[in-house]
Amino acid sequence: MTTTPGTTTTPVPVAGALPGGTWTMGDLEVTRFGYGAMQLAGPWVMGPPADHDGALAVLRAAADLGITHVDTSVAYGPRITNELVREALHPYPEGLHVVTKVGSTRDAQGGWPPARRPDELRRAVQKNLDTLGLDVLDLVNLRLGDAAGPQPGSLAEAFTTLVELQEEGLVRYLGVSNATPDQVAEARSIGPVVCVQNLYNLAHRDDDALVDALAADGIAYVPFFPLGGFSPLQSEALAAVAVDHGTTPMAVALAWLLQRSPNVLLIPGTSSVAHLHENVAGAALRLTDEDLVALDRIGRPGPAGA
Ligand SMILES: NC(=O)c1ccc[n+]([C@@H]2O[C@H](COP(=O)([O-])OP(=O)(O)OC[C@H]3O[C@@H](n4cnc5c(N)ncnc54)[C@H](OP(=O)(O)O)[C@@H]3O)[C@@H](O)[C@H]2O)c1
Repeated sequence: MTTTPGTTTTPVPVAGALPGGTWTMGDLEVTRFGYGAMQLAGPWVMGPPADHDGALAVLRAAADLGITHVDTSVAYGPRITNELVREALHPYPEGLHVVTKVGSTRDAQGGWPPARRPDELRRAVQKNLDTLGLDVLDLVNLRLGDAAGPQPGSLAEAFTTLVELQEEGLVRYLGVSNATPDQVAEARSIGPVVCVQNLYNLAHRDDDALVDALAADGIAYVPFFPLGGFSPLQSEALAAVAVDHGTTPMAVALAWLLQRSPNVLLIPGTSSVAHLHENVAGAALRLTDEDLVALDRIGRPGPAGA
């Protein structure tokens, strides 16, 4: 850990020393500590950020730290987040992988209606290419379900369309997002799946079995809302472990995810360089077996749950 001369007391993690090491999806090697760009757009992921230069600074700080996994989508803003990623980082540094998603669009009220017909998916891939300034997208997630979470139903037509786009050379690797275990299995029966991006954190553990099953098959699990998303994680047990270690609940939440399974990749979001540095430094925390037992009770039924 170093501090930048002449700046605030915010500790600056050493570039390249990211907690968690790396994971490989297909032939894409990424740092397990990535960055989620969604909330760089305006409130509720609509419109431009209040601080345009601040948003660019966060993205550049992520790349400077050696983060090689940036998660975004043309639906964020819409377009705004991809445009910020492009402005901050294009031409993209060697080894940096911008992961994007298709399958939902935005309405005037900021809703996320599905857009999974073949023509809609083709348009969304093209819009991602255009806004990110790329000829080929490294990894595209098919976003399923709705704002309430994953919903059952076949993804065959939509995923087959993405496989066609892959065969046409516009996309290298595919994943699914907001998906049920049955949909993950269905996608895998159609074409290779290198990652699943679902809601998962200390308080939302519906996917515990899926995380382990994917780990056994060498497939990445990328939890969205690792810090609780729009409602920060709050739990007495989490706060107590953080106090014991003299750190923050965010640090404990991220360290727990890194320790949960080697296939778990982090994409925490922040609009603050100081928070990015805090999160990178904090996620290196080594939780004890005792901590893990206490944290395991969060979000589970029973008197000890918090
Ligand atoms: N596939 C999907 O359907 C889907 C859905 C949602 C999100 N995602 C992806 O998942 C990524 C992560 O989700 P997210 O950003 O919404 O939620 P998140 O990572 O759980 O939390 C982000 C929030 O935590 C705050 N935060 C971060 N570090 C902090 C710190 N050290 N101290 C205090 N507050 C801190 C941020 O505020 P500050 O800006 O003030 O730091 C922001 O409000 C997104 O960027 C997106 O790429 C995917």
